[in-house]
Amino acid sequence: IITILSSLAFYFLIFWLCNYVIISKLRSRGSGKVPPGPYQFPIIGNLHQIGSKPHRSYAKLSEIYGPIMSVRLGTKQTVVVSSAEIAREVLQKNDQICSSRGIPIVMHSFNHHNVSMVWLPASTRWRNIRKMSKEHIFSTHSLDVSQALRQEKLKELRDYVKSCSSSGKTVDIGEAAFTTSLNLISRTLFSVDFANYDTNSSQELRDIVWGVMKNIGTPNVSDYFPVLQPIDPQGVMRSTNSYFQRLFDIFDGLINERLLIRGGSSETKKNDVLEALLDENMKNESNFNINVLKHMLLDLFIAGTDTTSGTVEWAMAELLRNPEKLLTAKEELKRVIGENGVVQESDISRLPYLQVIVKETFRLHPAAPFLVPHKTNEDVQISGYTIPKDTEILVNAWAIARDEGTWEQAEIFKPERFLESEIDVKGNHFELTPFGAGRRMCPGLPLAYRMVHLMLASFIHNIDWKLEGEIRPQDLDMDELFGLTVQKALPLKAIPTCGQNTD
Ligand code: HEM
Repeated sequence: IITILSSLAFYFLIFWLCNYVIISKLRSRGSGKVPPGPYQFPIIGNLHQIGSKPHRSYAKLSEIYGPIMSVRLGTKQTVVVSSAEIAREVLQKNDQICSSRGIPIVMHSFNHHNVSMVWLPASTRWRNIRKMSKEHIFSTHSLDVSQALRQEKLKELRDYVKSCSSSGKTVDIGEAAFTTSLNLISRTLFSVDFANYDTNSSQELRDIVWGVMKNIGTPNVSDYFPVLQPIDPQGVMRSTNSYFQRLFDIFDGLINERLLIRGGSSETKKNDVLEALLDENMKNESNFNINVLKHMLLDLFIAGTDTTSGTVEWAMAELLRNPEKLLTAKEELKRVIGENGVVQESDISRLPYLQVIVKETFRLHPAAPFLVPHKTNEDVQISGYTIPKDTEILVNAWAIARDEGTWEQAEIFKPERFLESEIDVKGNHFELTPFGAGRRMCPGLPLAYRMVHLMLASFIHNIDWKLEGEIRPQDLDMDELFGLTVQKALPLKAIPTCGQNTD
């Protein structure tokens, strides 16, 4: 033990000295200066300053050190960006140079980082996988084809809320939204439902998805001191392995079953993503194979479920805290869709107030407050500073979307601010980038956009809600749990009363 400890101490000392020398050199080189930042302590750097809500801690630090700030977490150099102009420099002007990913060690599980659309650098391999996902899932044509399926899943959500209303049962809104997102994604990918509302069937998968998000986002000493990786002191690698194993077991079962069906002659082909990707595999072009397919399904599954359901839960929490806004949204739905009507995807454009509620939710509660970490491929000049190659860049989209210089009464939920505004969430306006921008921008945006609006409309159209436990709207707890995504810390629970005519 003494030998291990002394070699660790030696390693830390050497590292700290090298770092100190490099940073001092860069700082003293006029135009080559690195961004300012808080004092970096020996060995730990700024680790003690991250806290359990890093998006908030970094926002506070950037008020002191400026909108581009250097921090060091153990051995890892990171630059945090907290203004719209500098976010534009990273995500647009220097998009190519800043397009690699800062890969957390847990994403080495099952070698995921070498195959994953989320974690590969912006290489030809990454481009091929992304192109394929666009073609088979996210294109307007593919989304229009799978529209009926989403309507079916939303009807199930409304039926569930209706049944709770009849029996006076409380609805866990985040859980119901997660079950719906899960089935929307699993239906689109595999033509099967993974969960239903009346059992705990979605809870295991929700725990897995959140577990992965948490393992990616929360500080892991193995990322900051690579020498500790074999020990995995926090056990995050072990738990990620078991989460991935569980998902791969499910995917293997579904893929093998489908391959068997495809081998027979009686079945007609299914109209889902798995079928399309197995066809791609048969073509055997662009290195696509079953392993790549499995990792792609894992990415879509992890990236697509908790992000959408979390957004809907936050939107509902804001509406229940602001009953007059909820009423305005309900009146709009009644006027446009009719009391008995069912919202269709084509109706979204006719529901401007619903749209601004969603935008305002994205502003105050972006699912991934730092996007997914970017990393520089080479030295780059940003805002007059030199950012060395291999530096992780965190764009604090959460802080930018609450910047008092851009947003009047930034902390207040005020959907009306968008009614006369041109700002959208599609990566054109750097003051609001919940889906990122540039080449690494979220490819799932077109699907997420439809899912979030339709789920939210399904939760509010012709339904009244009362918070569980007689909580007053203004007292609703809005605390956050941080992972790669930010969840509501306490589940949102409310009792529905459905109008007579709810379909
Ligand atoms: C990447 C947000 C839904 C799949 C991202 C990024 C963000 C994001 C911020 C990183 C962008 C960057 O680093 O610059 C969201 C939000 C969603 C959502 C807020 C819902 C409200 C979805 C859905 C899917 C999906 C439904 C797929 C089913 C992905 C993938 C990536 C990604 C595969 C990685 C892309 C790459 O690195 O090339 N998302 N997302 N997302 N998202 Fe989403």
